[in-house]
Amino acid sequence: MPFAEDVKLGFNSHPKSLSAKYHYDALGSVLFEAICLLPEYYPTRAEAAILERHAVEMVDALKGPLELIELGSGSAAKTRLLIQAVLSRQARLDYHPIDISSSALDASARALERDFPGISVDGTAAEYLDGLRRVTRNGSGSLLVLFLGSNIGNFDFSEAIVTLAAINDALRPGDALLLGADLKKSKTVLEAAYDDPLGVTAAFNLNLLARINRELGGHFDLRQFSHRAVWEEQRSRVEMYLVSRLSQDVAIDALGMTAHFDAGEAIFTESSYKYDARRIAELAAATGFEVAKRWTDSLSRFSSSLLVRR
Ligand code: AVJ
Repeated sequence: MPFAEDVKLGFNSHPKSLSAKYHYDALGSVLFEAICLLPEYYPTRAEAAILERHAVEMVDALKGPLELIELGSGSAAKTRLLIQAVLSRQARLDYHPIDISSSALDASARALERDFPGISVDGTAAEYLDGLRRVTRNGSGSLLVLFLGSNIGNFDFSEAIVTLAAINDALRPGDALLLGADLKKSKTVLEAAYDDPLGVTAAFNLNLLARINRELGGHFDLRQFSHRAVWEEQRSRVEMYLVSRLSQDVAIDALGMTAHFDAGEAIFTESSYKYDARRIAELAAATGFEVAKRWTDSLSRFSSSLLVRR
């Protein structure tokens, strides 16, 4: 569904909500790259540490030649570790990144083709499953689908199951999925990761309202909303909100509507689910995968699982 309809629906819901996927316009994608550099946001570095150590072993678990598809590739910075490992084994590589942000996709494709002479990048600007349907594999080797960064964390368990089942459907025997999942940990560490003192995550979240202003003629005063992140232990997820600082009415011209916000009213903007080994095994078992191997970083903050099609 396009942005306009989704915003209208979200503001007419109780409680109000906006889909997390809309964080990633050109500015939002750059703000997310900045989040990845924050000392409090550990997932990127934890996953990079795992890949630095184990990328060769991951690749060697599959029969060559390999082809890569990546869901939510972003800047593809961590993917370079896997690309490097593949290209040490074969001279050429087809890489099919899928991302909702065409600006991130274009920038990463250019940088990869400059830095890896053996790579051929064909990007698809789309949501995960639409993109997956549009990609056609070139070779007859194995396909490795990358779903890194705990992008899976945005999904409820039922949505995660639908997504992994669809990935499984696109695979042949011998193909695999590399799944990055952030792990449960203390409330203090989790909430700092999603509400950093520099305010980068707040800016990333507030950009949703700025995007409504830019694209839909919204009249949000961003200073009248605050960012909130809370770890909900029961649901095993960090929830992000934008909270109205006062009672206010905001017109959105392209939607022909005025949205009312009570003082303290929250717009739900993202969930970031945290996993443990059991939950990952459940997810795999429910979607036709077998966990061939699982790796964690030295502090057990993040996990990478190689799931093979059963
Ligand atoms: C890109 C969905 C994995 O949930 O950690 C980071 C997005 N939101 N800080 C995450 C995000 C706020 C991120 N994912």
